[in-house]
Amino acid sequence: ADNRTPAALRAIARLAAQAGAEVALGWRDHADRLRIEEKAGPADLVSQADREAETAIRAVLSRRCPDDGILGEEHGGAAGHSGVHWIIDPIDGTTSYLYGRADWSVSVAAADTAGDRLLAAVVLEPALGRITEASAGDGTCLDGTRTTVSGGDDLTRALIEVNLGTPAQRAYTGRMVAALTPRVRDLRRGGSAAAALALVATGRADGAWLPGIHSWDCAAGTLLVQEAGGVVGDLTGVTPDTWPHSGDVLAGPPALWEPLRRILVAAGPGPQPL
Ligand code: IPD
Repeated sequence: ADNRTPAALRAIARLAAQAGAEVALGWRDHADRLRIEEKAGPADLVSQADREAETAIRAVLSRRCPDDGILGEEHGGAAGHSGVHWIIDPIDGTTSYLYGRADWSVSVAAADTAGDRLLAAVVLEPALGRITEASAGDGTCLDGTRTTVSGGDDLTRALIEVNLGTPAQRAYTGRMVAALTPRVRDLRRGGSAAAALALVATGRADGAWLPGIHSWDCAAGTLLVQEAGGVVGDLTGVTPDTWPHSGDVLAGPPALWEPLRRILVAAGPGPQPL
């Protein structure tokens, strides 16, 4: 059917992400009344805004694509039988969101269940009014304009996004940051892994090292980078046309990806990511 093309799925992803963003933005004006909980500990927060935003996203997807599967960070998985499933993070960067900062995003991706290919992706940054979208074979757009990864091939002139990983990984990620710091132009740590991948896909960063992330943090962002001409993989390498799902994820333009991987591998192994 027509609404199964990657471009049509991307349009649905956008509607779903906008529904989630509306809920999240709405709560910002009443943040003092928001119920907040620690999930795995003080570094892993969830709020009523996350849960309600996910409900709004799921409502759009189930209305338009009732036979598709859905996996969401807050409400878990629901199987489908259409061959397409959705992977969503209603608020990626909950900590930043709860601190009233702008570096959080709504991440919505569609994937083909049989082939494990990403089909469509949207990363919406509501506080910045910025949307980065891709559909398989059609390229990546930032606010409607085609975009690509940076043409960088010189690590000393590379701006790299990093995350600090799960609490159990922090000693390891500290080592990784120490190894990268003298080799690159500079590092940035934003609050959202999905947004970091969108920055790579739009040439606003020359690479991203994102340890300890889940499928909902990287599904949409991975397609954004791939369709913008970049590569995404873990430290063991890149598997073309599929995606890492979770773990320690490295993204960048082809010429920088392997040099980055070598520095990180040389800095030594870490604990199991998740
Ligand atoms: C978090 C963000 C953050 C990353 C954390 C994730 P959440 O997602 O992606 O950048 O460092 O590992 O948990 O929990 O805010 O959706």
